[in-house]
This record gives sequence, C-alpha cells and structure tokens, in this order.
Amino acid sequence: MIANESHGFYDFFLFAALSFFALLLFIVVNVSQKVQQTPKLRSVAILVLGDVGRSPRMMYHAESFAKLGFDTYLIGYKGSKPILSLTSLSNIRLSYLSESPPLVTRIPFVLAAPIKIMYQIATILYALVYGIPRPPEFIVVQNPPSIPTLALVWLVGGITGSKVIIDWHNLGYSILALKLGKTHLLVNIAKRFEIMFGRSAYAHLFVTNAMRNHLEQEWGLIGHKAVLHDRPPSHFHKCPPLEVHELFIRLGRSISPSLANFLPGASLPYTTQLTEIQGLPPYSASPTSAFSSLSTPTLRKDRPALVVSSTSWTPDEDFGILLEALKLYESRAREANLTNCENSQSKHDSKERQVLPRIWMVITGKGPLKNRYMAEVELLQKNWQYVRCTSLWLEAEDYPLLLGSADLGVSLHSSSSALDLPMKIVDMFGCGLPVCALDFACLPELVKDGINGLVFKNASQLAEHLETLLTSFPSSSALDSLRTNLQRALQVPLSVERRVHNHQHQEGADWEWGSWSENWDRVVKPLVLRDSERFG
Ligand SMILES: *[C@@H]1O[C@H](CO)[C@@H](O)[C@H](O)[C@H]1NC(C)=O
Ligand SMILES: *[C@@H]1O[C@H](CO)[C@@H](O)[C@H](O)[C@H]1NC(C)=O
Ligand SMILES: *[C@@H]1O[C@H](CO)[C@@H](O)[C@H](O)[C@H]1NC(C)=O
Repeated sequence: MIANESHGFYDFFLFAALSFFALLLFIVVNVSQKVQQTPKLRSVAILVLGDVGRSPRMMYHAESFAKLGFDTYLIGYKGSKPILSLTSLSNIRLSYLSESPPLVTRIPFVLAAPIKIMYQIATILYALVYGIPRPPEFIVVQNPPSIPTLALVWLVGGITGSKVIIDWHNLGYSILALKLGKTHLLVNIAKRFEIMFGRSAYAHLFVTNAMRNHLEQEWGLIGHKAVLHDRPPSHFHKCPPLEVHELFIRLGRSISPSLANFLPGASLPYTTQLTEIQGLPPYSASPTSAFSSLSTPTLRKDRPALVVSSTSWTPDEDFGILLEALKLYESRAREANLTNCENSQSKHDSKERQVLPRIWMVITGKGPLKNRYMAEVELLQKNWQYVRCTSLWLEAEDYPLLLGSADLGVSLHSSSSALDLPMKIVDMFGCGLPVCALDFACLPELVKDGINGLVFKNASQLAEHLETLLTSFPSSSALDSLRTNLQRALQVPLSVERRVHNHQHQEGADWEWGSWSENWDRVVKPLVLRDSERFG
C-alpha cells in the first residue's frame, strides 16, 4: 500500500489529470449536439486500446452483442485481420483509431509520450462521441490498458448516461510493476488511477473467480459483478488423421532437415512424419487422383509423441524448466529401453514392456530469449536419442491445427497478478489437447489435476508426468483418459440438470466447459437485457 503522506501528491496528480480530461470533454460535448440525446437502447460501443484482430475476447463480445440484435460499434487499432463474423454481420461497425503521426517517433521520448497520450485521448473521444450517431446504451471497455481509457469511458458514461461495463482481463498496474518494480512511483499512480476510475461501473466482468474475489475485497467494486471465463474460437477442434496428414504435407518443407533421422521417414503425399495412407495401389496414377480415391490416412504406429508448447520467450516463462524436464526424460527413456533389453535377453518374460516413446517437442512463438535457449537445446540434443526440440513458426490458421494434431501440451505460464489464466491452455483445451501446466495460484479454475491435465511445480515433476502420460504410447491409458474427459466436456452443452446430477454422482465431473456463446448467454445477456426489457 501507499504511505499516507504521499496520498496528497497522487490525488493532486490525478485531480490535475482529471481536470484536463474534463476540460477536453467539455469542449467536445459543447461542440457536439448529438451528445445531448439520450442513449439509444440496444446499442453498444466496445473499446479496446490495442490491435482489434489480436483481441479475441473483445471480438467475441462484439459478435455476441450483434447476434443479440445490438447495434455494435467496435473501436480499436487496425492490425491483424479480425474474425470473419465482425466484417460479415451487418450490425457491427468497426471504427479504427488512427495511430499518432510518425513525426512523434522522431522527437525525444519526454516530449513524445505526452503528445502520444493527448493524441490517444483526442482520437478515442472523437470515436466515442462523434463516431457513433447516438450515445450507446453500453460502453464495454477492456482493462488493461487502463490509462487513459478507464477515465475517458468513465467521463463519457457520466455525461451521456451510457452504462459502463469493464472487462477485467488483468490489472494494469501489476503488468507495469513487472517492468518497473512494485514500489515505483508510476506503478503507484497507475494503481490509484485504476482504482479511482475502475471501482464503480454498471457491471464488471472478470476472467477468473480469483480476480473477482480479489477486486471485490481489496477495492470494494461497485456494480454488477460476473465471471466470464475465456473460451477458444469455435473452429478450434481435435484434428482427425486426415487433417493431421494435410497439415504435415503443408509443413513438410519447414520441418528442419536435421530431424530427418529422428522422425519416421516421410514420402509426401502418401506418408508424413505422423500419418500414412495404407493400401496404396501398386500403380498409382497422378498423385492427386490417387490421393483422393484412396482410403483416408491413419496415424502411424511408429510416430513420436508430438508435444507442443507455445511461449513468448520472456523471463516470466521459465523455459529452463522444460529443458531440464526433457533432459530427465531422455535419461529415463534410455534406462527403460535398457531394462527392456536385459529382460528380453534373460528370457524373463516381462509382464509389461514399459516403453517410453520418442518425444518431438514443438515450440511455437517468438520472443527475446528464443535464440539463447534454442542454441542450448541444439547443443544438448546432439547426444539425445529420445527427444528433439524444434521451434516452428506457423501461419495463424495452422496453429489450431497443430494443437489439434498434438498428443500433449505444455504450459510454462506464470501470471503477473496470479489472477488471470493463460489463453494458450484455453486454446489447447479447445483442440481437445490435455496439458501439463506449471502451477500458480488460480490455475485450478482451468486445469483440473488428473481430469483434463496434470499440474507440475518443478522440472522433475514435469518429467514424471511426461513418463506417466506417455508410457506405452501410442496406446497410453493415462493420456487417453484425459483426452476422453476433455472430449466429453467439449461436446456436451451446459445444462443445469447435468450440473446437479454430476455433482451428486461423479467426482471431479463438476468441471464444465461450455462454449463462449453458452457462457455469454448465461452471464452477460441477463445483465444487458435487464433494462431494455423493462423499457421496451
Ligand atoms: C458552448 O460554448 C458556448 C461558448 O463558449 C456557450 O455559449 C454555450 O453555452 C456552451 N454550450 C453548452 C451546452 O455548454
Ligand atoms: C534400445 O535398445 C536396443 C538394444 O536392445 C538398441 O538396439 C536400440 O538402439 C535402443 N534404442 C534406442 C533408441 O537407443
Ligand atoms: C518437485 O516438486 C515435488 C512436488 O511438490 C516435490 O516433492 C519435489 O521435492 C520437488 N523437487 C525438487 C527438485 O524441488
């Protein structure tokens, strides 16, 4: 907490900032007569201070509002392509904020930063006030970033009567604290700002129960409060062998040649590293016609276990744990092979051959520590027989296909606030992929140990989990059971009756998934239809 004597300073600072915003808004309001109109029912502005195409959750909000019949205005920066429904639904209007002029990057930071923020404030206010014909019934804002959006939305909402909904993805100040340290002046200012403008809203949505409880207790939030867990895009799924086959035909060339004597041999387009088409006719005509008329591909028995991890290669995702675990797995697999050989030689008919498969570890993602760690991996795996670790850069549309083709996912994420959950595990679950996940405070809200994945605290535990799950791969009962639980949860729609039923009969099965729209309809819909229902 902040020492008492410094309160005065922060409050003065915030007061000054607030007066500035108020003045700015007054000018805007004065000029705009539109603002004097009452908010239009069943309309919403969704504000995200980032690349719209990379803000899946805000795009899904927009889609859900639009499907409910709301006039939906999505405001943010242009960048990656947004999901299809945003451009195809007629009641969604995308309005892009303009980036600050390039001139700003050439002047010193001390001058550039305030100019940039002013520019942001002006463009956001313009988009919120002028970009929308009548004030919307709701303004949904993502937090973080909190500065300046929370204050702007608070002001605009206060003046026009639009109801503000804050979607809490994380705490802005906790992310800043990672960079600057917890006690830094700016971190304290950011925290006061977040409390001041974020405390009171029509409704607060949270990504975890942990965040809801924390903010409810520490900040005393005012307004409706509801938890809406993240869900993967609806097209994410477990890939059937045909899709695995097609993916690896496509990836064929980008798979490093140094893997050639580790992976099973591939002869495209009939066999890939993971799949094969059986029953090739003795004389096949042109590859394409043969390909389409043949029986569908199947997964090869001699394939390695495909384990996937995606990382941002930052210090808070400790790749060292994974590396250490792979080292341990390598030596365990050698021991297991040796034991098997001895057993078979001494004709001690071993009850069960505890064979550990080879692991093909694929890492996706870009980041600062990538080169350092990959160099280390290269050196280590020269002597490895059971493990290969490669980094792969994938097209956005291939990423869910890789997850859907994999056997196991690994998450090394640890949270800055310990109040949010890694989206990559959500994506993996959406693709029917069980995970081994590094433990942190609120992980159990997502990963149910032993049901949809296994939780580890250190490298040796991760190595043990790999061994447990992969023994006698590709027919491993431990892995199959996790996968079955996931498939069941993905396929069965949410229902109140089932929840009661499961609660009574099946241990651990109170774990429910539900799609984004199921969850949204249950959590957000009642909040946003509440008043419009009453007033028609
Ligand atoms: C807008 O500004 C003008 C001149 O400064 C003033 O006369 C007018 O009353 C203002 N309108 C509102 C709505 O405050
Ligand atoms: C496993 O042991 C056998 C000896 O029985 C050996 O031929 C084989 O190369 C070993 N496999 C690996 C991958 O080391
Ligand atoms: C790893 O974690 C497990 C479970 O918490 C613990 O029993 C074990 O001692 C830890 N190992 C190391 C090397 O810290």
